Amino acid sequence: MPRPVIAAVGTSRIGRTDLPGRDLFSVALAEAFEGLPDPAELVGGVYVGNQSENYEHQIMQGTLMAEWAGLRTVPAERVEGCAAAGALALRHAVKDVRNGEHEGVLACGVEKMTAGGTGGATDALSAAFDRALEQRSGVTAPSQYALLADRYLHETDATETDLARIAVKNHANAAKNPRAQFPEEIDIDTVLQSPTVAPPLKLYDCAPVGDGAAAVLVTTAEIADDLGVPWVAVDGSGAAANNIAVAERNMTRIEGAAVAAETAYGEADLAPEDIDIAEVHDAFTVCEALLSEAVGFAPEGEGYQSYRPAGERADGWTDVELSTSGGLKARGHPIGATGLLQAIEAYEQLTGGAGDRAVSDAEHALLLNEGGVADAVTVVHVLSAEGAA
Ligand code: COA
Repeated sequence: MPRPVIAAVGTSRIGRTDLPGRDLFSVALAEAFEGLPDPAELVGGVYVGNQSENYEHQIMQGTLMAEWAGLRTVPAERVEGCAAAGALALRHAVKDVRNGEHEGVLACGVEKMTAGGTGGATDALSAAFDRALEQRSGVTAPSQYALLADRYLHETDATETDLARIAVKNHANAAKNPRAQFPEEIDIDTVLQSPTVAPPLKLYDCAPVGDGAAAVLVTTAEIADDLGVPWVAVDGSGAAANNIAVAERNMTRIEGAAVAAETAYGEADLAPEDIDIAEVHDAFTVCEALLSEAVGFAPEGEGYQSYRPAGERADGWTDVELSTSGGLKARGHPIGATGLLQAIEAYEQLTGGAGDRAVSDAEHALLLNEGGVADAVTVVHVLSAEGAA
């Protein structure tokens, strides 16, 4: 069975932009294929992570992005799973290469969230909630995650200041990431004194609204070697859907994430202790705490210590470094592109391209991308540096 690898990556600028989605995609594609043969010579299929047609009134994103990449008559489709769309696109590409259907697949993601302002984005995102049980009550993503945060603060020793420290850490990481939407360091008071969005979540507990595109070439290790490019292997891929309504789920045990992670670890023959870096869908600060527990990095109730340096966390924590890109919080969260932005961070970390934010000797990465609220759908990938088993 071919070993799927990521062999080329690119992004557009992330944040508020004047470009339409297709042009954001072109920028990402151009960066990914710089110095490589044309996509037409390497790519047999295209998957596009894209959350909503509300932003640009455009579906058929598979056809559109394939055309924009100069690819005619290849299979191409949009993949939808709200904020997990990007990782679902990556997962489909990995499967196609693994099962021999194609030797090269383009996994990409694009979102033009700012087209309708924060109101438009809030409305589009609410389509991911159960229509009968939740949408009609007027809930929003921040208000749903606020329920999780409230519950987490109630059940554990974590405080609002602990959650603020997660934001401070992620902004500090973003300050070293030239791709970040918010490359500025902040302090705890900035978070605690920022406007309340949905208590206990404040502005700086939330990922922003932003535009962006990402493109990733998934191919075989042999082809990557022939191209002479650095690569990282995608050795594990797991996915799990859970009930769509938050009311039907345990809010502090993110069961779907645990199952998806278990599958990915199993495929890669790795355990939580083996993972050096992770991007874990910190759409709201509490997510980094909850998901650290779900994937086995932290004991139950201790995930909020993710802001502490390895070795200064509670017993049972691994030494993993979290959200080295700045995470969704500060690198940015252009919904359909986010899962691929996570993959790009892992690629750069594991191939020595992460500059000032490099984690030394990193060999294995875990990526967790979720859609809807918490684990309505979760996708986990486990990646290894070239040569690492
Ligand atoms: N973190 C830090 N700063 C932020 C920010 C965030 N999340 N969101 C906006 N800002 C900044 C802007 O850069 C801007 O700064 P400036 O005045 O210096 O230019 C200022 O705050 C106002 O920005 P604006 O876009 O008008 O904010 P808003 O009040 O309309 O929106 C949120 C703020 C938090 C409500 C919005 O970002 C949001 O809905 N985030 C969650 C998105 C989401 O749910 N994603 C899906 C999760 S799975």
